[in-house]
Amino acid sequence: MTQELFDRSTRVTPGGVHSPVRSFRNVGRTPIFFKQAQGATLIDVEGNNYIDFCQSFGPLILGHRDPDVEKEVRDAVGDVWTLGTADPYSLELAEWIVEKIDAVERIRFVNSGTEAVMSALRLARGFTGRTKIVKFDGCYHGHVDSMLVKAGSGLAGGQSASSSAGVSQNQAGDTLVLPLGDENALQALFESQGDEIAAIIVEPLPANFGLLPLKNSFLQALRMLTKAHGALLIFDEVISGFRVALGGMAQLSNITPHLVTYGKVIGGGFPVGAFAGRADVMDFIAPEGPVYQAGTLSANPISMRAGLVTLKKAARAGKYDALNQRTQNFADELDQLITRTGSNIKLVCSGSLLWLCPGAQNMEISAPADFPANLQDNFKPFFLSLLAEGIYMAPSGYEVMFLSHAHTDLVLEQALEKFRRAFEKFSQ
Ligand SMILES: Cc1ncc(COP(=O)(O)O)c(C=O)c1O
Repeated sequence: MTQELFDRSTRVTPGGVHSPVRSFRNVGRTPIFFKQAQGATLIDVEGNNYIDFCQSFGPLILGHRDPDVEKEVRDAVGDVWTLGTADPYSLELAEWIVEKIDAVERIRFVNSGTEAVMSALRLARGFTGRTKIVKFDGCYHGHVDSMLVKAGSGLAGGQSASSSAGVSQNQAGDTLVLPLGDENALQALFESQGDEIAAIIVEPLPANFGLLPLKNSFLQALRMLTKAHGALLIFDEVISGFRVALGGMAQLSNITPHLVTYGKVIGGGFPVGAFAGRADVMDFIAPEGPVYQAGTLSANPISMRAGLVTLKKAARAGKYDALNQRTQNFADELDQLITRTGSNIKLVCSGSLLWLCPGAQNMEISAPADFPANLQDNFKPFFLSLLAEGIYMAPSGYEVMFLSHAHTDLVLEQALEKFRRAFEKFSQ
């Protein structure tokens, strides 16, 4: 059945999928077609169940179809689908976020993380009157033209500078790419071109080229240099926002960026993104200011209501700590399993994110340059052994795993048993 669906898909869609990693090309087989999900479980069109550690690449911090979110969405559909006007739902979500998140004085909702980044970059250029943007090797900021330079996610491990075809020299030329975590390179760049730089954009927890936590001192250096040179600091928290803590990495690092971009968790599993930050910067956006930005479906009521219920539930007392601790415990158990089964696997854990990198157990990996060249070759049998046991993770060695509140102790216990069997086969 899956094969038949895939054959039909390839006739109507490039590669048979609507986003490249979904094609399973990195793991050397055709994609599974999934039709249903609940909590931590995914069900494919043939009725097979999997424990889902992808969670749609991160939005589902409560797991699939959390009952409270589902009820809100059903009610929301009964009220209105889209308005294209001012409305109380986006107001409620905006007020809630502004009250809770120090880094956010104003927020504008859009439809995806990509759109949030695109708008934040335009705003940074409009606000500073400068053109250059600094990004870091391996950080992914969506498929904004100027950000498709040395990017991660579906572009990770590419042969060229990872620029996509179709990105003009002009668009890429205003993007200055630095090695991740290299403070000296950063200092040198600001000394030579500091007055041309509109902004630094960074994933404060880089999670699109494996998981590469940064030193707090590096993030502090970004804050200091942008301040000293009149540039803006943009934290791209599309993954980390409302995920590693309610206030994301801005909260954990104790750094207030000028702008933040959000996506994923903020919409509770419905299409959404947002850019936000300091009031004087945000007020450069139309109709208040001269930087244009708009959207037919922006602040869609269904996404707004799903988002607010999700965030309120995730923010209940102790819930972030509990999820992060449960993830760390699971990581510790996996680590012991790796030792017991003699598997050559590197494990990195941060918040409720996990990254398993087969073939790299004793390697220091803190930037894309440290990655083994054969990462996807090692990942393929690893992924397939896990899949055969009923564990689903994103089908690429560069993508991270996400845990959710639906990954209860019982689910994780069952998962560990599956990991054990897969590791035993994988390390034979
Ligand atoms: C850090 C980061 N920024 C931006 C994006 C783009 O978001 P979207 O896929 O919603 O366009 C992603 C997507 O994975 C991301 O991880």
